[in-house]
Formats: sequence, structure tokens, C-alpha cells
Amino acid sequence: MDNIIIEFKNVHYQYPDGTKALKGINIKIPKGKKIVFLGPNGCGKSTTFLQMNGVLRPTEGDIYYKGQLVSNKKKPKKDLWKEVGFVFQDPEIQLFSANVYEEISFGPKNLGLSHEEIRERVEEAMKDTNVTDLQQKPVHYLSGGEKKRVSIADILAMDTEVILFDEPTTSLDPKHIEALMKILEELHEGGKTLIISTHDVNLAYGWGDYFYIMKEGAVLLEGDHQEVFKQKELLQKAHLEIPWILEIYQYLLDNNKTKVLQPPRNKEELLSYL
Ligand SMILES: Nc1ncnc2c1ncn2[C@@H]1O[C@H](COP(=O)(O)OP(=O)(O)O)[C@@H](O)[C@H]1O
Ligand SMILES: [Mg+2]
Repeated sequence: MDNIIIEFKNVHYQYPDGTKALKGINIKIPKGKKIVFLGPNGCGKSTTFLQMNGVLRPTEGDIYYKGQLVSNKKKPKKDLWKEVGFVFQDPEIQLFSANVYEEISFGPKNLGLSHEEIRERVEEAMKDTNVTDLQQKPVHYLSGGEKKRVSIADILAMDTEVILFDEPTTSLDPKHIEALMKILEELHEGGKTLIISTHDVNLAYGWGDYFYIMKEGAVLLEGDHQEVFKQKELLQKAHLEIPWILEIYQYLLDNNKTKVLQPPRNKEELLSYL
């Protein structure tokens, strides 16, 4: 299928210390969609992302990008980082330049772009993430939330087709979570394929087009919001709660307080049912 941008076929991964982090992952990511990987700590979300952008290679199985085999045990990985940007969970690991402007321009410089284009991209990325005023600041003086925003700007400036956000709301306050969700919406409207990992079901439920629920290195459940979030027992197995919007909706249904049979997607929809 040509609308599939990333595909994993039976991907296994064992870390050098023997930890089996991925145990036969099969996924198909459609282009331009909003995809969520949900699951408890240690279930393999970050390892999956590291495979997607080519930092790690499968110990068994194959990874395809736009239908082309790009990574497996034998095949040296292609320069996937140019196509698949990765916003790390921990900005401390991602950031390494002296100041904010240099940090964000590092990626575009590596792509061999003109000075003018680099400047334009960096300025736009700083504007989108609200770090323009910090551009001359040394990276190590920034607060956790500021570092996070710079790490997002880093990847926006790369203008990759796919962007991975590993637990993007960690270390952001509510105001900056809202700003992040706005950036994600704009990127989505611009046609990017967005993939986030999280264990925040409430955030994920309203946002995602398609969900992979992971547990112990395997995909336990997948589907759109209607298919996934009615599987209470499986969600519990993955230590995930039911989104509060659905719990209230269920209460309204059970008590004949609404007749709408379509589960609400967000607070506004839920309120309109009352
Ligand atoms: N560098 C590493 N070396 C050995 N084991 C690791 C390494 N990184 C992660 N793991 C292990 O791999 C499994 C999956 O981890 P990870 O992909 O980070 O999960 P998640 O992102 O869902 O929390 C866990 O058991 C974790 O302890
Ligand atoms: Mg992780």
C-alpha cells in the first residue's frame, strides 16, 4: 500500500545486555496520520522509536520506509534520521550545542542547506516553540520546560516527513502542553506523520487517529479510538485507565441521561450531550 510510510515486519530487538525489548512487532503507519503508542514504563515504546529512526537495528525482522527495506539485521540502516525526526523524552540527551540558536541550526546545517534557508528554518522553529527570546542563552542554563521546547524546535527545523515525540508532555506545564498540542495540530495540517508515545490516556484519546497498546515488548491491542478504548480488560492488563470522558459518557448512558450513541471525543462534545 503506498499510503503506508513506516512498516515493521516481525521486529525483534535484544539489547547487548540480553534484555529482549521487542518481541515480534508488526505495525503499519499510514502517512499523514496521528499515531499513539500507549503503554507502561519499560514496554518498549522508546526502543520502537529508536528502530523507526534508525538509531537501532532489529536483531530479527525488517523495517520498511515508503515500501523500501531500510533496516534489518544484515542491512546497514539508511539515513533514516533525515526522514524521521525524533524528539527525545529527555532533552538532556538530545541537546549538546553551546547556545539555543546553534543547537537548532545544527540539524539543518547537517542537511547541507544554504545559510538563508538555515536561518529561515531556525527562526520559524524558534517562533513555533516560543524560544526566540532565548536564542543566545547557553543551553545548560535553561529550565526543563525550556529545554524541552528547544528539543522540539531542533526537530521542527529539520522539516522531516515523520516526527516521533517520545512522551512529549513530560516536564511541560499545562500551558506548554496546550502550546505543544497546537504545534502538533499545525504539523498535522501541514501533512506530517506524527507519532507520539505516552501513558496519558486522556491526552491520547482525544488526539490519536490510531493506537497501538504495548505491553512487555509486544503490541497487545491496536485500532482507532472506538475499537481500542472499549477493551477495558486489555487496557487494564497494560496498566492503562479508561479516559475520564468515556467513563462519564458510560455513566450518562447507563442512567438514561443521554441518547447519543457516538462516544464523545473531547470535553466539548461530552457537554453537548447533556
Ligand atoms: N540501553 C539499554 N540496555 C539494556 N536494556 C534496555 C536499554 N534501554 C532500554 N532497555 C530495556 O528495554 C525494555 C524496553 O525499554 P523502553 O523501550 O525504554 O520502554 P518504554 O519506552 O516503553 O519505557 C525495558 O525492559 C528496558 O529496561
Ligand atoms: Mg520510553
